[in-house]
Amino acid sequence: MDKLSTEISKSHQEFIEKQKMFFVASAPLSGEGHVNVSPKGLEQLKVLNSSQVAYLDFVGSGNETSAHLLENGRITFMFCSFDKVPCILRLYGQGKVILPESSDWCHFASFFKAHKGNRQIIVADIFHVQTSCGYGVPLYDYQGDRNILFEWAEKKGETGLQQYQKEKNRVSLDHLPTHLSVQ
Ligand SMILES: Cc1cc2nc3c(=O)[nH]c(=O)nc-3n(C[C@H](O)[C@H](O)[C@H](O)COP(=O)(O)O)c2cc1C
Repeated sequence: MDKLSTEISKSHQEFIEKQKMFFVASAPLSGEGHVNVSPKGLEQLKVLNSSQVAYLDFVGSGNETSAHLLENGRITFMFCSFDKVPCILRLYGQGKVILPESSDWCHFASFFKAHKGNRQIIVADIFHVQTSCGYGVPLYDYQGDRNILFEWAEKKGETGLQQYQKEKNRVSLDHLPTHLSVQ
């Protein structure tokens, strides 16, 4: 039975912190635009309080979430259980992007283990939490995290990562500007 609440409860937080991955979705306002959904792992999401979550985001070949948050702020997170107790949990919120140059960076970065290749922190104020059964989600055994992203970032080096971001992270698929192109 789907349950909707306005705050992240202790049991919601426990479920979220048990998950090895999450999904983040955002979309442009334009009806023609590409709706983005991204799987994220590496245990980079933290529940900051009963109405705020944040995740440390790494350099990638795209930067959709940043562009959509800049344009309209809407963001949805999804966590689903792949083990014996089925459950899906969604967080609906308004998100913002904190860049390393921002005065808020140190505060939010203190919640995360620093890694080479981090590019921004996505912070979201949550106004709805929805849980649903998850009976349709298959069973999977967690085997471990991949280290490839950190090896890739290490090999690129600081300057290489900055150049890569200039080339690939300034606009979205729909040519909307990201925070990188307006800073
Ligand atoms: C080194 C590297 C790591 C990536 N890691 C992810 C990832 O963890 N999740 C993901 O959805 N896409 C990943 N991508 C692909 C795109 O970056 C990503 O799909 C796209 O940027 C989606 O928007 P987002 O970054 O706002 O989530 C990666 C790409 C590269 C080059």
